[in-house]
Amino acid sequence: MKRRIIVGITGASGIVYALNLLRALIRQPLEVHLIMTRDGRKVAAHEMAQEGRMAAILEAHFGAERHPQARLVEHEADNYFAAPASGSFRHDGMVVLPCSMKTLAAVASGLAGNLLTRAADICLKERRPLVLVPRETPLSRLHLENMLRVTKAGGIILPPAPGFYHRPSTIDDLVNFVVARVLDHLGIPHDLLNEWGTINAPTDGIV
Ligand SMILES: Cc1cc2nc3c(=O)[nH]c(=O)nc-3n(C[C@H](O)[C@H](O)[C@H](O)COP(=O)(O)O)c2cc1C
Repeated sequence: MKRRIIVGITGASGIVYALNLLRALIRQPLEVHLIMTRDGRKVAAHEMAQEGRMAAILEAHFGAERHPQARLVEHEADNYFAAPASGSFRHDGMVVLPCSMKTLAAVASGLAGNLLTRAADICLKERRPLVLVPRETPLSRLHLENMLRVTKAGGIILPPAPGFYHRPSTIDDLVNFVVARVLDHLGIPHDLLNEWGTINAPTDGIV
């Protein structure tokens, strides 16, 4: 069976992370299920200065890179009849990026108020990988406690905090650092970032 990944996009800042992630995913023979919240669509349109469905935006910008067997399915966030709403829909994991504090709080308290949070809730109950990339700063005690609750429930909190030891020179390098870590946690191969120690770590002269 083709590997399936669910991608959730909320109204936190940082659609560029989602764009680069989706770009990396559609370059592979994967089935990607995309759920954008209503505010996710609004903030994304503002940050990209572009409206429209994500599938069309991706096709316009990165269509040439798309793997012939890649499939992108966009779901409405209020459609509980969609496949990701059910635990019987088998998939290989879900990522929410960027993840707002509202959606973080919903996931932390099992509040499945839209398709995105329902799908995340299912990941936790079915013990499937769930990666949240929360975007806010600074963090309140509530934000931190919600992150701890999600971690205790089996989710992974992956803050968009790029390292600088790879000597990034572009914004894309910084964004891809985070995207690469997300892909690592979903077990999806990529060439966005070299593993530390394979080419650029200082060595002790070992041959
Ligand atoms: C331009 C803009 C940027 C925002 N950035 C963030 C953010 O970084 N983090 C956050 O938690 N909320 C942010 N918000 C607020 C969320 O969009 C708002 O809480 C929304 O209700 C989240 O809903 P959702 O989780 O269902 O998408 C932002 C709102 C706007 C208009």
